[in-house]
Amino acid sequence: MSNPEVQMTFQTLAWRDGALELLDQRALPTRVTTVTCAGVMDVFEAIRNLTVRGAPAIGVAAAYGMVLSISDAAASLERVRAQLDEDARRLKAARPTAVNLMWAVDRMMRAAAASDAYDAAGLRDHLEREAIAIHREDQAMCRKIGEIGLPLFIDGMNILTHCNAGALATSGIGTALAPIYCAHARGVRLHVFADETRPVWQGARLTMWELMQQGVPCTLITDNTAASLFAKQRIDAVIVGADRIAANGDVVNKIGTYNLAVLAVHHGVPFYVAAPTSTFDPALPNGRHIPIEERSSTEVSNVGPVRLAPPGAKIYSPAFDLTPSDLVTAIISDQGITPGGRDG
Ligand code: MRU
Repeated sequence: MSNPEVQMTFQTLAWRDGALELLDQRALPTRVTTVTCAGVMDVFEAIRNLTVRGAPAIGVAAAYGMVLSISDAAASLERVRAQLDEDARRLKAARPTAVNLMWAVDRMMRAAAASDAYDAAGLRDHLEREAIAIHREDQAMCRKIGEIGLPLFIDGMNILTHCNAGALATSGIGTALAPIYCAHARGVRLHVFADETRPVWQGARLTMWELMQQGVPCTLITDNTAASLFAKQRIDAVIVGADRIAANGDVVNKIGTYNLAVLAVHHGVPFYVAAPTSTFDPALPNGRHIPIEERSSTEVSNVGPVRLAPPGAKIYSPAFDLTPSDLVTAIISDQGITPGGRDG
């Protein structure tokens, strides 16, 4: 089967003239604007404050961050290598859950260690080539996920997705949305229900924006509408992305993913997870070992600048949850489709 042509109307990130340009995902969909990261600390901040988000995208951004770590082409190699060590530690701490971040930074450090460059400028060129390779591979993995997942989606299906695992979460055509884009490009008629995805609204702001940009029929729902749609048999499949997948197939993804997996089992609807190789963490035996980021309470207490919760309200805000492998129908990766642990 040939690769269906999917053209996105925007670029999540771009390496331009030695700087990293990021589509500012905090401003979408109201404003389409970019942020330029000229130094490694700009990249660190952009990852932390969600200018760039989504596991594969933050991995690619961090790879370029490592290039930007070498800011002085005249510095001694010893000094540059010490700085790379420090910046690698810093970047990896920017967000703890998505393993793509650690994967990309570790790969950049291995490239630095293997380089026989005799000065800082040579090492920077070497790292730039590695970051560009990571970027291209991410794009290729997304395309592959799209192609591999395509046959699972047939004409007339209603698909539920959570958070944003589309082009905005990667440097390519996305993970969970990639098969949908490929199907759409081939004239397969699909309709997507997008969970709004509290507390940061990645579904409402980002998934809806990019699906609408691509002309994919879609409907926004509140997170708590999903159960009633299942009950009315209006969902034929669920597909989500992942921030980290453990060796046993447990999946950590945006908070609320687990709810959908339980609902999908109850209603006999397939639950698919789409993720590139860089999201797998074979070193972790199961998902209980995956660190879950907790975010600022104001993301829950407020909607933008408007505070809704009473002052002093105690708030618990994990950014991700764990879906055990036995609730997953299959994982779609760039390597193929692996059955999850779910029966039937
Ligand atoms: O907090 P975010 O927006 O970075 O969370 C993103 C998700 O949970 C995505 O589903 C996941 O990173 C997969 S993206 C292809």
